[in-house]
Amino acid sequence: MKAKIAVLAGDGIGIEVTAAAVQVLEKVASKYNHEFSFEEGLIGGIAIDTTGTALPDETIAMCEGTQAILLGAVGGYKWDNPSAKVRPEQGLLKIRKHFDLFANLRPVKTYPALAGFTPLRPDLLEGVDMLFIRELTGGIYFGDRGEQGDGDHAFDTENYSVAEVQRVAQVAFTAAQGRRKKVTSVDKANVLATYRLWRKTVTALHDDYADVQLDHILVDAMTMYLMTRPASFDVIVASNMFGDILTDEASVLAGSLGMLPSASINGSSMGLYEPCHGSAPDIAGQGKANPIGSILSAAMLLRYSLNLSYEAEVVERAVDSALDAGARTADIAPRGAGFVSTTELTQTIIDAL
Ligand code: IPM
Ligand code: MG
Repeated sequence: MKAKIAVLAGDGIGIEVTAAAVQVLEKVASKYNHEFSFEEGLIGGIAIDTTGTALPDETIAMCEGTQAILLGAVGGYKWDNPSAKVRPEQGLLKIRKHFDLFANLRPVKTYPALAGFTPLRPDLLEGVDMLFIRELTGGIYFGDRGEQGDGDHAFDTENYSVAEVQRVAQVAFTAAQGRRKKVTSVDKANVLATYRLWRKTVTALHDDYADVQLDHILVDAMTMYLMTRPASFDVIVASNMFGDILTDEASVLAGSLGMLPSASINGSSMGLYEPCHGSAPDIAGQGKANPIGSILSAAMLLRYSLNLSYEAEVVERAVDSALDAGARTADIAPRGAGFVSTTELTQTIIDAL
């Protein structure tokens, strides 16, 4: 098949890991006779330096002509001024909103090859295989905010409509039907009105999915259960902010934040694919970044935007086999053991393809 893919590498290690994912996609194209063309665009700090805004109109227009967006990461020390008017993160929030990418899929599983590497007891990690569905275009990230008085007060507003909760919960229930048929909805209904609406809406929608088991868990308890009984979860649906926090926590189960991919979808086949990690300015440009989060995001791109499930699985198996062969970047290498560079791990994965 023919496909046009937008590549927004952004800043820091976004550049290295995105290059790795593009190489993998090129290998998939040549091996399975597809024609992928890549168009690069600016986002984040580099876009601010070049155009004065974190997501220039040209980038949006370019992305509109493609089937999928592969994104790296945004931000870095240079733009690290939270009170600046223009910030790299605005690019990320704006592109998610522009394409109405309301559901962010973040699968988390443990890799047998990395089980001894996490700080948790290996027996707790057996069978960990969960899918977070994070709401991505609403909630406190997009609610009213501002400063009051002489700058001695500030506020952000959590705000959800029934329709916003319904559409993301629908994604969760549907995903669960193709998996272990369990949905855990995370909220803070004991304190916040937004989450009473969240819980009521998810419960009502559950009537349409009688084959799926639904549990509600308060977010504070959820942070604990993720560590004490991670294997018990299947699909987890959470608001924008809770999903952001819980997926970083869950990355511990996979061995490293560098392992986690994500897909942001809007109900059409157009989607945005990015690793869960950030731009990691402390290790940027040194060949230390783990490319697996980005490569697995490319696999999700093949599956969800191009409908190439077989190719997606081949990429995922290649990652498994590279890990089994002991190829590790520093973040997933046992202390004192040797490790390989971003390009070496990428090459091992491409060879395994
Ligand atoms: C993520 C990141 C972003 C978020 C930041 C960089 C704005 O943490 O994608 O998880 O909070 O959504
Ligand atoms: Mg995050």
